[in-house]
Amino acid sequence: MIKKAVIPAAGLGTRFLPATKAQPKEMLPIIDTPAIQYVVQEAIDSGIDDILIISGKGKRAIEDHFDRHTELEAVLENKDSRNLYNEVRRIGDMVNIHYIRQKETNGLGDAIYYAKQHVGNEPFAVLLGDTVIDSVIPVTQQLIDVYDQYQNSVIGTEMVSMDRVSRYGIIEGQKTSDRIWNVTDLVEKPEKDKSPSNLAIASRYILTPEIFKTLEKTKAGKNNEIQLTDALRLLLKRENIVAYVIDGKRYDIGNKLDYLKTIVEFGLKRREFSGEFLSFLKDIIANQSEAT
Ligand code: UTP
Repeated sequence: MIKKAVIPAAGLGTRFLPATKAQPKEMLPIIDTPAIQYVVQEAIDSGIDDILIISGKGKRAIEDHFDRHTELEAVLENKDSRNLYNEVRRIGDMVNIHYIRQKETNGLGDAIYYAKQHVGNEPFAVLLGDTVIDSVIPVTQQLIDVYDQYQNSVIGTEMVSMDRVSRYGIIEGQKTSDRIWNVTDLVEKPEKDKSPSNLAIASRYILTPEIFKTLEKTKAGKNNEIQLTDALRLLLKRENIVAYVIDGKRYDIGNKLDYLKTIVEFGLKRREFSGEFLSFLKDIIANQSEAT
């Protein structure tokens, strides 16, 4: 039974400056809901009841967001804004959330190592706080189901075009069944012609507690940071690792163009303004085509 999740959210978000100078990128809103709220909801919908958020400097807004706000609640209640009141109350009571601060931003692997004590000796889920995945079955639930079958660490992956492999950690391995690969190696951001596959690591994992031992032995790698991918390569020497091709659409809000695309797609899905928003987009496109 996987009941604990770790959400790393301490990164500096340099790709989204200046917006992330004084606010966490994980709090960037997708219309009216911060990205990390979707991530927490995915964990809850997957049966997780204990979440540890890896926080850091300038990230206090995340704690405030998941806390109760009694003054705001009172105002909404008196204003008869029942829906907003309910939503604000719900966020404050979502799940048992714990926080620990990463003292220096030494990379994703280092951030996860901060969870060692909290997690203890059980497998746990990892969900990156800056990536939202839209799916019918929550992706963490999909990974838990795979873990239950194989009892090994599971890496959520997605097929990307060969032109994009140099942006991701890439899996080397053999496909053993629909959506399942047996991992033989992991390569961080390979060049297109040297990439072993186009199966990219996609921001969700189930990890066995053995990862903490391999993180202890992992030296600083790319960007002088402790990379989770490097720790997973060490883990491969001790245990099998399974890669699973997720069934869902991933939105990485940590880079500006993908963030923009996310807002547009989510906007089109919102019933209350999708008609007007769609006509607005069509007009813009028509005007652009006339101008060129
Ligand atoms: P990214 O790889 O997107 O790094 O982190 P980043 O530093 O936040 O962003 P850029 O590259 O400077 O723009 C993926 C996830 O891991 C967390 C981030 O908060 C994000 O949710 N992270 C990253 C940490 O918690 N600690 C770190 O040291 C690095």
